[in-house]
Amino acid sequence: MGTWSRMTESDFQKVWKSADEARQRYEDHDTSTAQHSVRVAHWAVLLASRLPNFPQARLRRLEITALLHDYGKTFLDPAVIRKTGPLDEAEWVEMKRHPELGLQNLPVPETVVEPDGILWHHKRFDGSGYPEGDIAGIRLALEARIISVADVFDALTSQRPYRTTKPAYEPPEALGIMREIAGKQLDPSLVPLFDAVYRLECERVGGQAGARTLQVRSAIGMELERAQDLLRTIIGGPIDVDDPLQGIPADNPVLGRLVAGLLRSTLDLRSAENVARTVLKMPLSDTFRAEDILDSDYKSKSVAVQRGVTEFPKHHREVVLRLKRMPPNVAYMRIVVYQGDLWICVGEREGDVIEVQLAR
Ligand SMILES: [Fe+2]
Repeated sequence: MGTWSRMTESDFQKVWKSADEARQRYEDHDTSTAQHSVRVAHWAVLLASRLPNFPQARLRRLEITALLHDYGKTFLDPAVIRKTGPLDEAEWVEMKRHPELGLQNLPVPETVVEPDGILWHHKRFDGSGYPEGDIAGIRLALEARIISVADVFDALTSQRPYRTTKPAYEPPEALGIMREIAGKQLDPSLVPLFDAVYRLECERVGGQAGARTLQVRSAIGMELERAQDLLRTIIGGPIDVDDPLQGIPADNPVLGRLVAGLLRSTLDLRSAENVARTVLKMPLSDTFRAEDILDSDYKSKSVAVQRGVTEFPKHHREVVLRLKRMPPNVAYMRIVVYQGDLWICVGEREGDVIEVQLAR
């Protein structure tokens, strides 16, 4: 802890980068969990930031720990972690090794994580769960209890391979389930706090759909970075941000190569193309049409959205548009519009209309 608290911002950024690369290796290995650890880290830090005795240095350590909480799954049989449907007994034995494996194979120095946060993130408040060990309640590291709450929330609100028949829960339902398991699986003092933190965060970003938006927002930052990395590889050197194509004609195959490199579970073709175009400073692909838009807070917004031009006041973090129907080129977790600052779109059903949130 001592070493950690003396770390500078740039040291932290370096450690975060290697932790995140490790997380990406694991999530490439387990293709079903894209961005899960990023969201868990996000919620864990939001929750912990409301707790006393959680200075910045400890928060940073928690963030790295949460990013790597499932890293041990990298070392498991892919057939087990990618299995759709329930695990059998032998597969569970394998699965339960991941907290210890993660700790034994840490991709970052042990001083920058809270080892107990990784080891005990599946240990339940009542002492059940795994790994084996006579430990329960507040004797479990606070980091482990926090990650457990964030992990359960994300697991309930995301589509998971072992829950093939059921869709993800809506956040209010998930919070209800968490209240039921408080004291058994989860720390009963952290659950109401998480509930409050979740609501505050939604208010901040403007409405209940904020949780989904947050999840997507975290994904997009990563995709932009990935696009920049790919571009560096393609041009064989650093990127000139003012002229990323560096004299190469815009109709060259760079765009195609970037898009091909970007395509994976979190991005569809149009979204990948928009990310690539943003990095190359090219005009964006089309977005949805004016007739799809039922109403919005400001008339100018629909026009702006339709043209793919950001005319929104800078202080608006998010706008909500109500659409008559899901436009054919818009799907959940899809980037639709951005220009300059990044704008994203998340479609969520609300009665008969689709509510689309755009966030920067
Ligand atoms: Fe886990």
